[in-house]
Amino acid sequence: MNIYVDSSMSDDSRRSEIYSGSVFAHSPSPNSLKLCRLAQAMIEEVFQPFDPLKVHNHISAEKCAEILATLKPRFIHHSESKQCIQGMLADLGCDLSQTYFDVPRMRTAFPGDFLKSGIAYAFHPHRDTWYSAPYCQINWWMPIYDLNSENCMALHPHYFDRPIKNSSAGYNYHKWNLESRQNAAQHVKTDTRVQPRPEEPLDLDPQVRMVCKVGGAYQFSAASLHSTVPNTSDVVRYSIDFRTVHLADVRSRIGARNVDSQCTGTTMGDYLKGTDYSHIPEEISSMYQDGTEVLYAKA
Ligand SMILES: [Fe+2]
Repeated sequence: MNIYVDSSMSDDSRRSEIYSGSVFAHSPSPNSLKLCRLAQAMIEEVFQPFDPLKVHNHISAEKCAEILATLKPRFIHHSESKQCIQGMLADLGCDLSQTYFDVPRMRTAFPGDFLKSGIAYAFHPHRDTWYSAPYCQINWWMPIYDLNSENCMALHPHYFDRPIKNSSAGYNYHKWNLESRQNAAQHVKTDTRVQPRPEEPLDLDPQVRMVCKVGGAYQFSAASLHSTVPNTSDVVRYSIDFRTVHLADVRSRIGARNVDSQCTGTTMGDYLKGTDYSHIPEEISSMYQDGTEVLYAKA
């Protein structure tokens, strides 16, 4: 696996590298910092008068879940957050008329055993391609506050090309949307929702923990195995992630290789065009449909 730091490679070459398992790290830019500051302001407002990084010392997990259940959707749908993503992508050489993104998610990882499920789910090792993501999907991840190696995210690059026995065959994105997502805030202590998981013991080492500055971001393939690092620090980790696909790659079915995913459905309907937020044209997104989008259509 190659790790490129502030590479000046073109977006076409960069995507090609990412599809073979490379990671790209980017220094903070005005737009990424603006996005982080927006997130910080929203977080600080809901947790005041407490320090958001220490909030687990002051309020119950239930109360915290309740607050996050309101905060996270507000951030996701904030008009300014989409504009910041557009700016970030343009600054990094992405062609906005070809690049589609999904709305940025805010994630949290609390120290110890505080709130590990539901609205603050601690992600076990997984590939996003087990969750119906296309093989051309690129994941973007950035910290909202200062990060350390004990509260970040880990990549497990030796599994990029190595199949893992997993339960993705039981996962369908449309079914998940219909049945589970709305209920995330209810899962405070345990999470009973069925998610694709490894079904064999994994050797998570060697692992790569990317620690970057606030507003720094890194990109990796949706096919890369990654996980939430158990937070052994004493501060909460707040992060932002979002995903992109490039229309030419979607159309040509270019992307990482599928080594072990068997899920059904597709997230192709979620991405918004970098210029006007329109969806991927139906004639192209339909190439990824398998009929389950109708089976599990929202009532
Ligand atoms: Fe993921």
